[in-house]
Amino acid sequence: MAHTEPLTGFQKRNIDPETVPRLVAALDLQEANDGVRRLRDWSYEALAPGLGERALDIGSGTGSQTRMLAAAVGSTGAALGVEPNPGLRAVAEERAAAVGSTARFADGDALALPAADGTVDVVWCERLLQHLTEPERAVAEMARVLRPGGRVALIDTDWATTVLHPGDPGLMAALASGALTGAANPYSGRRLVGLLSAAGFVIDDRGSQSLLQDHTSVAWPLIRMLGDSAVRRGSLTEPQRDTAYAELSQAADRGALHMSVTMFGVVAHRPQ
Ligand SMILES: C[S@@+](CC[C@H](N)C(=O)[O-])C[C@H]1O[C@@H](n2cnc3c(N)ncnc32)[C@H](O)[C@@H]1O
Repeated sequence: MAHTEPLTGFQKRNIDPETVPRLVAALDLQEANDGVRRLRDWSYEALAPGLGERALDIGSGTGSQTRMLAAAVGSTGAALGVEPNPGLRAVAEERAAAVGSTARFADGDALALPAADGTVDVVWCERLLQHLTEPERAVAEMARVLRPGGRVALIDTDWATTVLHPGDPGLMAALASGALTGAANPYSGRRLVGLLSAAGFVIDDRGSQSLLQDHTSVAWPLIRMLGDSAVRRGSLTEPQRDTAYAELSQAADRGALHMSVTMFGVVAHRPQ
């Protein structure tokens, strides 16, 4: 199994401790995904966090990227993960302590960041904006806390790019459309450049990678979630959904299954 991020569950209001292990497992699987790793590596290089800088990781989850920022800024800098889910925050704190990282974590909200105006050098915000109904408010907050010349890396998924194959293309597109109902902002990936430009940022670079799955890595719970959402939104009948599942399952048996979702990354800076 590879990517099993539930389309819901990461919204701020979900702080049910029982869901934490599932969310942690989903984030750990993502971390192991080649596409995620490549997009992170590319974004990190373009963002170039440096020694002594003050870094924020907004929506830090298990803190993997906060630890990466902490290593980059060193003991003369500071890396803070902002995370409203107390269970995820506790896991991030434990993991940072276990490896002696100087990463710190704080309760907080992307819409009201715990930082004064112009006091931050670099912001990392990965896979959060898709969960916000008003992502432009979060980007305005990033602009507020970053100093002039400060840099930001936004990474997000675009759920409308979900591709399932083989099978009747119309049927598979209807199944994939189930991805559009789970996240608050399912087209987030394609909106990143526009959001940053509207907030006055200068775009420095952009890139993309795909979350790819095949018969060895496919996350059937995710496909079932898409099917159920597609039925609820009226894109598929239940028998059509079951036909689609059967086609994909047979494809997996003969090693022919393809599933992909495109993620985008944009690196930008505040003008001096
Ligand atoms: C899909 S996870 C991504 C976690 C991490 N950035 C990563 O890529 O591994 C989204 C994270 O954003 C957090 N989150 C949700 N709403 C938030 C908000 N309003 N402000 C800050 N973080 C939020 C969730 O609790 C979760 O940890």
